[in-house]
Amino acid sequence: MNILLIGSGGREHALAKKLNASPQVTLFAAPGSPGIFQFATQASINPTHHAEVIEFCKTASIDMVVIGPEAPLAAGLADDLRARGIAVFGPSREAARLESSKAFAKDFMLRHGILTAQYRVFNEHQHQEARDYVAQHTLPVVIKADGLAAGKGVTVAETHRVALEALDAAFDGKYGTAGRSIVVEEFMQGEEASVFAICDGERFLTLATAQDHKRIGDGDTGDNTGGMGAYAPAPIVTQDILRRVDELIIMPTLQGMKAEGKPFAGCLYVGLMIDQSGSARVVEFNARFGDPETQVILAILDGDLARLLHSAAIGKLDTSTVNNVANGVACCVVLAAGGYPGETRKGDEITGIEDAEGASDGSVSVFHAGTALHHESDGAASLRTNGGRVLGITASAETLKEAIQRCYKAVNLIHFRGKTYRTDIGAKGIRTG
Ligand code: AMP
Ligand code: GLY
Repeated sequence: MNILLIGSGGREHALAKKLNASPQVTLFAAPGSPGIFQFATQASINPTHHAEVIEFCKTASIDMVVIGPEAPLAAGLADDLRARGIAVFGPSREAARLESSKAFAKDFMLRHGILTAQYRVFNEHQHQEARDYVAQHTLPVVIKADGLAAGKGVTVAETHRVALEALDAAFDGKYGTAGRSIVVEEFMQGEEASVFAICDGERFLTLATAQDHKRIGDGDTGDNTGGMGAYAPAPIVTQDILRRVDELIIMPTLQGMKAEGKPFAGCLYVGLMIDQSGSARVVEFNARFGDPETQVILAILDGDLARLLHSAAIGKLDTSTVNNVANGVACCVVLAAGGYPGETRKGDEITGIEDAEGASDGSVSVFHAGTALHHESDGAASLRTNGGRVLGITASAETLKEAIQRCYKAVNLIHFRGKTYRTDIGAKGIRTG
């Protein structure tokens, strides 16, 4: 099977590794990364030019395109490929609105009786009305930019002043067009976890549950990031909770999307808030795999990922491609550049990856999130930092404790200037489990 993978982050590196492990797969990638090119041939195309992607698929006899990030989904890449008869793992632009418009997602959940926080949507012409509403809202209150904002468009405000500032900033263009509408939402108490469903438009298969660590600092402090680490499975999501999530959230979402003429085929990422009574409500939907959750979910997936995704892409989900969604436990610690999630330096040399991967009998994988090869004048190449999140150190084991230990042992073997990471990834899972 010839597969073209779109993306360049740690998530896509993990997808590349797992897809490559499926029998008879030849993998191509764009834009790719030095990590992804360990498993895939570079496709010299610009994924934002859909005609180029289509042309490449025809020339290279691509059987399936797997789209990693949200931006190409929101730009309709899947639609354009499908229109040319090319199988795609990833939802249409309309179905991806579950992620690309928080207002759409909230209204959809309300229409279909899916549990989520109370909310109201305001557009930029309702600025004063929104201010009045926020000023009398109970605290904390959550202000969200409607559109895609790389995980940075959400403010959990403890005071009305902070809430109003967030609202004004969104309407003043802080998030560009993503902030033209905003969602004002009730704050939900509880613990977060996420569930990933591989969907073919009607049916689904739920993969391992995971917990991300969104804040930059230990103990969930400081700014929100794209995700500083993850582990899977997440014991907070008991079998009973998962059964209810399947029945009360994922199933009605697929049925509702189909009934509204936008069947969802791809990975549905359900971000959950689980309260003390074990009731789960939706915090957010994403229309793609999570990053860094994919790194841990795929590390413990026992199955043939290429056949699983292909079956979903052609509308015939084949669950027999998977033997066990959670074969062991995995942990991923993200190494970020100094200053992340703000401005970061680029171009610092990275060393120690081979030592880290060799440290624990092949159970450690180092996924590249933001790296680049630097070519010296003598022809040698060195790996440099090239983004906010630089690497994702992922280890699997039989227990979470062991996976965490292996991860941090590997983390200590990798060096680059400004290396920044959390020291408590997975600790929540040990407390819960
Ligand atoms: P989102 O991009 O919608 O997932 O929001 C980013 C983060 O903000 C979430 O992972 C939560 O930690 C927090 N958050 C968002 N909405 C709420 C809410 N209604 N109640 C509590 N926390 C929230
Ligand atoms: N780790 C959060 C996300 O992928 O959206």
